Amino acid sequence: MAFIDSEEIDKIRIQANITDIISSYNIDVEKKGKDYKCICPFHDDHSPSMSISESRQIFKCFVCGVGGNVFSFVEQFEHVSFPEAVKIVADKIGFSLSKTITTQNVDKYKKEHDIIDLATMFYQNNLNTSSGIIAKKYLAERKIDDNIIKEFKIGLSLDGKDDLYKLLNNKGYNPKLLEDIGLVSIINDKVYDFFNGRITFPIEDINGHVVAFSSRVYRGEKDVSKYINTKETPLYIKGNNLFNYYKARGPAKKEKEIIIVEGQMDAIRVYSSGIQNVVALGGTALTKNQIELIKKLNCKVILCLDGDTAGEDATLINGDLLSKANIIVQVVRLSDYKDPDEYIINKGIEAFKDNISKPIDFIDFKIKKEKNNINIDNSEELASYINKIIIDVNNIKDPILKEVTLNKISNEYNIGLDILKSKLEGLKQEEKVAKEVFNPVKKDDKKLNGFDKSIRKILYFMMNDEKYIKKYQKEIGFFEERVYRSIANEIVYFFQNHGKINIADFISYISANKELYSTVMEIIDTHEEELNEKEFDNYIKVYIQKYQELKIKRLKIKMSKELDINKKKEILEEIANIKRGVL
Ligand code: CTP
Ligand code: MN
Repeated sequence: MAFIDSEEIDKIRIQANITDIISSYNIDVEKKGKDYKCICPFHDDHSPSMSISESRQIFKCFVCGVGGNVFSFVEQFEHVSFPEAVKIVADKIGFSLSKTITTQNVDKYKKEHDIIDLATMFYQNNLNTSSGIIAKKYLAERKIDDNIIKEFKIGLSLDGKDDLYKLLNNKGYNPKLLEDIGLVSIINDKVYDFFNGRITFPIEDINGHVVAFSSRVYRGEKDVSKYINTKETPLYIKGNNLFNYYKARGPAKKEKEIIIVEGQMDAIRVYSSGIQNVVALGGTALTKNQIELIKKLNCKVILCLDGDTAGEDATLINGDLLSKANIIVQVVRLSDYKDPDEYIINKGIEAFKDNISKPIDFIDFKIKKEKNNINIDNSEELASYINKIIIDVNNIKDPILKEVTLNKISNEYNIGLDILKSKLEGLKQEEKVAKEVFNPVKKDDKKLNGFDKSIRKILYFMMNDEKYIKKYQKEIGFFEERVYRSIANEIVYFFQNHGKINIADFISYISANKELYSTVMEIIDTHEEELNEKEFDNYIKVYIQKYQELKIKRLKIKMSKELDINKKKEILEEIANIKRGVL
């Protein structure tokens, strides 16, 4: 991404009038009272629902919620990045930027990608030389034919210790750079190839660039690691990547389903047998970023991991992680063969498809698996097991599946359905309060509670005038909820660095942080009225009152769970203090 000086961004923002820029897109802007109004170009609008504030230099549509400053408008209208939007606005007002900005996405790692592409081709070529005969034979035995070799750019690193290095060195690439991207190691000033004597499997990042390799022994070597993979490099962060994600993304979106397997050989087998919506974990549990990648596909997950106990444990761990992220998870357990690769080779793709078409819900898998670990005849063990399971049931989104699962548990353990339901209700109550405190950011303003509304108004005032920043610091100082707290911190930081604040420049500043930016967009308001200090004081009052109510609610729940009478008393005392305004 191109870099533009923030002072320059502010200069352009000040010189560009938002109403003129919006009008420049042939949008009719009308003055209505103090505000300007226009038809919103971001939804199917019939009466003007977008308003523009000239004094604050921001816009907001009160129907679809889109808003921001002049750059946000251009970004969204022209579907460009922030720096590109800055450049477009600069061009429109005839401001000459001190740096040239290319409006195409520049590949920051162009050189590194070129080098790795060269290495990939070198490895691919090795397979077809006389040094590659045994490796080719090994692949053929594993039913990896030439089409698969080509599709997955499979190759071979040679036994000599610096064949790749020699090639790249001849092209003038510096050893340190080659080491940084994981192709060579430098030991006592001598440069060695990182991979040798192994079959190489390129790993693509989410944009389809080869960024790393996994490599496998193929001559039955003992006492060495079966696979050696590129260590983390600036281009390859394992936890941000999933093997075959780039190829599987489109098919997964189309099929509304992604199959997750354990090994890359499994993914290669499944994919090349015609089921393209498949990715491989590579032997580790899913990271937060990998779950984000899956979430983006907007589809359900089928976990089809290895048949052994390790695969079963991994199914439990990853299934839990995915379920917690509100992704629908189903499970396929293959029997007879250890993994999807061997299963498909021995039983054929149709048999595999048949399994995939009959997955079980993750919750059923989990109930069954955990049951094996407890002694049902021990009442305590059983009770704690049921308590655990009920949390999972509570997390099920689909009401029918929830009901069915409750019934199953009730039958299986001979526990009254009403008892299970009342436990579930108790959990829901706890969750509701926890949500109000920790997770109050909601899109629809009509659904916001008084607590959220007051915080958002306080933040809005702070973005407009330093007076309110000072009042916030003095009277509140800290919001418990993370996003609000971060926005408040950013406002304070912005003010400290600029010595002044206005909402339009704050928007430019915060636009780099997508999460905070989207909440700021929701908060902004274009009404031209002067901000009223009395109104602000009132929001502070409402906020403090609501916050205390929430704290009391939480303490009451804590007290109801507390068994120790002295601790109960302490909590009661704390509640009384809050009521008296001591805390
Ligand atoms: N793995 C690894 N290092 C190892 C062993 C495994 O990085 N020493 C990763 C690889 O990504 C591998 C995955 O864990 O694909 C699953 O391991 P395993 O089930 O042992 O491998 P398979 O996929 O069955 O590999 P193969 O069929 O080639 O033996
Ligand atoms: Mn295998």
